[in-house]
Amino acid sequence: MSKSLTLLLSAAVAAGVFGCAQFAGVNSLRGSEASAPDLAPAEQKLYAGKRPGSGAPIARTFKEQPPLIPHAIENFDEITSTDNQCLECHSPANAPKKAAPKVGDSHLTVAAALRMDRYQCNTCHVPQVDAKPLVANHFSGNLPGR
Ligand code: HEC
Ligand code: HEC
Repeated sequence: MSKSLTLLLSAAVAAGVFGCAQFAGVNSLRGSEASAPDLAPAEQKLYAGKRPGSGAPIARTFKEQPPLIPHAIENFDEITSTDNQCLECHSPANAPKKAAPKVGDSHLTVAAALRMDRYQCNTCHVPQVDAKPLVANHFSGNLPGR
């Protein structure tokens, strides 16, 4: 066995032996039994919120946050290369007509066209479901009052 390979293997073994100590006392939600069924919550059938235009925006909790979608998106969440129904209400041209907020200025090129890296809206903007957190958390935003 070459010297460098021996060194590499002993480093790997050492990492295995010493690396475990830091995980002592850490348990997964599922427990240590790999075959145990996990505790995934029941699938949520409906998004929270109603028809667009019938609700109010959800307060943002941190600077630069992509605002959460406050309305249901059933029937128009499928975004393809030829069809993006979000833009039927949120594009700069349609937003005033639909009384919807216009996409952020950061989404537009200097010629006021939509930047293609902003086309897939639901990469960043997500609808909400009425799901309780799996584990308690102490999240608090960094905006005043949050
Ligand atoms: C029929 C018109 C319509 C369609 C289609 C639509 N929206 Fe909306 N959207 C609205 C309106 C109106 C609001 C303002 C809040 C309200 O009244 O529901 C809104 C609010 C939002 C907000 C909150 C903005 C903020 O400043 O808080 C986001 C984000 C958003 N929509 C994203 C989307 C995405 C992503 C899609 C596509 C999956 C989409 N919307 C499809 C009309 C629409
Ligand atoms: C790469 C992430 C990303 C994508 C993709 C994206 N957005 Fe946004 N969006 C943001 C962020 C971050 C903000 C808040 C800051 C800003 O305005 O740039 C925002 C803001 C908004 C707002 C509120 C604008 C305002 O003036 O308050 C609307 C409405 C919106 N986006 C709609 C959309 C729609 C519709 C699409 C798809 C065509 C989309 N966004 C795609 C990240 C994204």
